[in-house]
Amino acid sequence: MTDARAAVVRAAGEEPRVETITLPDPGPGQVRVRLVATGVCHSDLSLARGTLAQVFPAVLGHEGAGRVVATGGDGSLHEGDTVLLNWAPACRECWFCLHGEPYLCVHASDTAAQPYAQLADGAQVFPGLGVAAFATETVVAENACIRIPDDVPLEQAALLGCAVLTGAGAVLNAARVSAGESIVVFGLGGVGLSALQGARIAGAAPIIAVDPSPDKAELARRLGATDVLEPSPDLGKQVRALTGGRGADHAIECVGRSDTIRAAWSVTRRGGHATIVGMGAKTDTVTFNALEIAHFARTLSGCMYGASDPARDVPLLLEHVRAGRLDLEALVSARIGLDGVAGAFADLEAGRGARSLIVFDT
Ligand code: APR
Ligand code: ZN
Repeated sequence: MTDARAAVVRAAGEEPRVETITLPDPGPGQVRVRLVATGVCHSDLSLARGTLAQVFPAVLGHEGAGRVVATGGDGSLHEGDTVLLNWAPACRECWFCLHGEPYLCVHASDTAAQPYAQLADGAQVFPGLGVAAFATETVVAENACIRIPDDVPLEQAALLGCAVLTGAGAVLNAARVSAGESIVVFGLGGVGLSALQGARIAGAAPIIAVDPSPDKAELARRLGATDVLEPSPDLGKQVRALTGGRGADHAIECVGRSDTIRAAWSVTRRGGHATIVGMGAKTDTVTFNALEIAHFARTLSGCMYGASDPARDVPLLLEHVRAGRLDLEALVSARIGLDGVAGAFADLEAGRGARSLIVFDT
């Protein structure tokens, strides 16, 4: 058993507080990972507030990178290996895995439902999305680790684990945007800014970014946006003016609200594609009338984890990073300590900044 420091959320709606937890020794097929950095994602906020389902008390955090410090044997990882954590580990055996959709693996959420460590009072604590990376150390299954080469700066690589696999993956794997196609990206947080960069890699044009927060515009342009718009009732008209009067070939929604999902659908052309990445509340309903669906002949698709297979896509993304096509550092708007998660949640709630990155003292 090992003690670690972790940001613990005791119940839905409560703020995270740093506490000591006790981790079990890794069992067969498991490893203990010492975190180097963890990004704070909007999904962590949604889990903490009860918008997405979570069992409490919990240690959240699912966008982490670190080093293996202990193994349970029986596996291929070794002490010292540098790894990225995967919050939807694929079993490689279920129907979805065998049909090329590992991001929909039926076992992807299994570990999140089981307690993984203990609080000081002996209470059992659950790992957010199975990863629990808001902690100095965590214990995960080997298949929740993606080995990355030693030369990759782990601090920035953490962001690949959710924001980039999800955002860039939505554009490259799910929407399969082609060079010259027009695209609108809604929401310029870590996920949306990654989608923008994915659109730039795909050669999309124009690349239109939409966010109510005016201070996102400069960064959005730097990462590939040709136009930056604020949400308004005129948005459809503005997008049509930039896309030959038709509307966009693609929209990528990275907010997770019914109004932005609806807007993403509405700004696409007849026959266009709206890809929904954002995850919102069950109670927030999107409506369509019975004429428009056939009339506009659009496709509306949901997208989990950027339709990514991290084992295949992380090496590709690292190539984009090395070639200067994918800027990870630009996504980081603040470096914080483990005690800064509550503040990072407040920033996400206010739409301030991009990613807050917890950097551990290693
Ligand atoms: N139109 C466009 N953008 C909006 C709107 C709107 N009406 N309302 C809010 N936004 C912007 C915010 O200003 C913010 O910049 O959406 C962005 C959301 O960014 P983050 O809160 O940083 O969220 P992120 O971590 O990027 O996740 C986005 O993807 O994986 C899911 O659960 C996650 O639903 C969340 C989404
Ligand atoms: Zn995330």
